Amino acid sequence: MFNLVLFGPPGSGKGTQSENIIKSYQLQHISTGDLLRDEVSRQTPLGTEAKKYMDQGMLVPDEVVIGMISGKIDESPEARGFVFDGFPRTTNQAEALDKLLEFKNTQIHLVLALEVPEADLIARLVNRGITSGRSDDNEEVITKRIKEYQSKTEPVARYYGDQGKLERVAGHHPVEETYALLSKNINKYLLPVA
Ligand code: AP5
Repeated sequence: MFNLVLFGPPGSGKGTQSENIIKSYQLQHISTGDLLRDEVSRQTPLGTEAKKYMDQGMLVPDEVVIGMISGKIDESPEARGFVFDGFPRTTNQAEALDKLLEFKNTQIHLVLALEVPEADLIARLVNRGITSGRSDDNEEVITKRIKEYQSKTEPVARYYGDQGKLERVAGHHPVEETYALLSKNINKYLLPVA
């Protein structure tokens, strides 16, 4: 099994690149943002609670997110591995993920951190907001999401750096070029199937 964390600020291309990676390497995609938006659209109690935070560009409490992950991993017992997109986002979540994977006799093998200038992030997300319908894709909330990332999520890079698992990748290039840089790193662990 090969488990990858795709790490980076809002708009850095985690979702876009995850789609390419899961196709080529036949991995399962776990995006906490997608899982939370699904809960919101189904108006579940979890979704109603999460929406309060998401609409303000704040992180949803750790216990809510960690609770969702375990079940999601268990849904794919035969998986070749997982791409975690938008998770973990706090050191607390990273520690919980390590424990969870250890319990399942596996681990995080590689963390790829996409680096994109802030002005590009804002431009990408404002542009996506024209059609996405996402309540958090407006300039005011985007700025809060980036601040939340800088204060609570960036420390997670250090957590994985200390474990020798972190690789930083320039994410400001066109999608295909960035994908080529990401795959170069993944190929050291796993070769593409497709
Ligand atoms: P989430 O859905 O994870 O949003 P995010 O991290 O803010 O990421 P985005 O989806 O906005 O960006 P991305 O990096 O995936 O980029 P994308 O590929 O889409 O989280 C949303 C909210 O949920 C959070 O704010 C929080 O409230 C909550 N949440 C989620 N997970 C949580 C957790 N673990 N703990 C607590 N709370 C949590 O690309 C963005 C745009 O750029 C697209 O339009 C794309 O087409 C374009 N683009 C991509 N790559 C390129 C490129 N190379 N060149 C030009 N344009 C590009």
